Parts: sequence; structure tokens; C-alpha cells
Amino acid sequence: MTEHAPRIEVVGNVSAIAERAAAHVIARLHDRQPVTLGLATGATMTPLYARLVAATRAGLISFRTVSSFNLDEYVGLAPQSPGSFHAYMQQHLFRHVDMEAGRAQIPNGSADDIAAEAARYEAQIAAAGGIDLLILGIGANGHIGFNEPGSDFASRTREVRLDEATRIANAINFPDPASVPERAITMGVATILEARSILLVARGPEKAAAIAAAIEGPITAACPASALRLHGNVDILCDEPAAAALTRRPHNNNRRRA
Ligand code: GLP
Repeated sequence: MTEHAPRIEVVGNVSAIAERAAAHVIARLHDRQPVTLGLATGATMTPLYARLVAATRAGLISFRTVSSFNLDEYVGLAPQSPGSFHAYMQQHLFRHVDMEAGRAQIPNGSADDIAAEAARYEAQIAAAGGIDLLILGIGANGHIGFNEPGSDFASRTREVRLDEATRIANAINFPDPASVPERAITMGVATILEARSILLVARGPEKAAAIAAAIEGPITAACPASALRLHGNVDILCDEPAAAALTRRPHNNNRRRA
């Protein structure tokens, strides 16, 4: 097990972090197409997607030859259900960019047989030649995708039970915490680690402990994001509050410029 140091950049505030994350993705889209992206949902991603939409509208980038695979989806929610990640992605990205129908993949959480859906999703990622750039958020408990603490590093796309803390954190998109689904389908830790490059974005003080554990703590299933140190090509973008618990500040810290 070889440990690698992720490239860490601390950026001043929410707007600056979205700007940096968007610049990273835009550079990748300019670099080589066709490109296959891995995509995340959540509040952290919303301003990033807004910038990608603006860049598309300005003619700076195109999604015409982009394919994408989302990390996860709730089990039991229809795609058109407002709390679903299908709905989130339509609202914040897919509906606004020139992506070809059928190239944007999200696990089907309303499939009758979730295990079969998970196997189909893995096969689809493999058939696409794998993921070039996977964009990740992080849960306050260190989850990546919906790989909660305890997730095996060898795990692949599968059905999982969500932690209570995750259901409470994600209740904002539902009428109340009790209506947040209890289960989800998520890419596994091993699926994530197979992406050729990874960009993790974290913002806000509630992510500080998870970021410190992921970067400076032991590499352990208790903090799924710590698995990223087994990958040799990871960029981590944090705002100041999310980086606050790091004891070793990164050399490439550019917070003064933000
Ligand atoms: C969700 C998603 C994750 C995301 C995380 C953080 O549970 N499954 O992929 O990274 O929450 O979300 P937020 O950006 O809203 O804090």
C-alpha cells in the first residue's frame, strides 16, 4: 500500500473555491476531448456547476463530447422526484449545457433490482473506458459518494444504508429529515479510486474535521476519504474554514490571492 500526498490548495472563500474548481474542470475539458467526468451532488457543487453553465453559455467550453457518471443516488426515489440526484443534476447542469442525451449517467435508484443496477453501472463505466476526472465532495463524517465510515476500500457500486448524520445533513432537499431515504446506491471506494484523476472540493467549518482526518489521520475505512491517499493523482481544494483543522498547511496555499 503506497501512500501518496494529494495536492492541496486552500482558497479564501466560497466564490473563490468554485472559481478554482471550475477552472480545473474547464482546463480538463480544453485539454482533450472526448472526456468522461465523474460528478457529485450537494451544496458544494452548485456554484461550480453554475460556473460551468456560464462558461458553456459564453462559448468557452462545450459538453458535446463529454460523458458523465454520477457518484450516487437515493434508493426508492423516482428520477423526477425533487429530492433525487437526477433532479439536482438536471436543475444545476444537464438542462443548461449541450450534453448529448444518453451520455449523462446516474445510478437508477428506483430499479427493481439494485444489485443488478449496480453491476450494470460498473459495466457501463468500464465500457466508457473509465473516468478521466472525478469530482468529489466530502461528508462531515468523511464519506465520499455515499461510502459511509466502515466502507471497504475494495467496495464497488452497491446499495448502502445511510448514516443518520448524513440523512440529517441532506434533509435540506426534503420536507423533513424523516423523508430522506434510508438507502442509496453509490460507486464504491474502489470504483472511485479507479478514476484517472480526482478533484475533491470541501467548504465550510463542518468539513474541517473530515478534511484533517482524510489528509493527516490514519488511512482507514473509518474515514473513507483517507483512501484518496492511495491514489497518485488527487487535487484537494478547500476554503479556509474547511482547512482550519489541518496542522500542516500546504505549500501551495494561495489564500492571500483569493
Ligand atoms: C452527499 C453526497 C456526496 C457529497 C456530500 C457533501 O451526501 N452523496 O457526494 O459530497 O453529500 O455534500 P455538501 O456539498 O452538500 O456538503
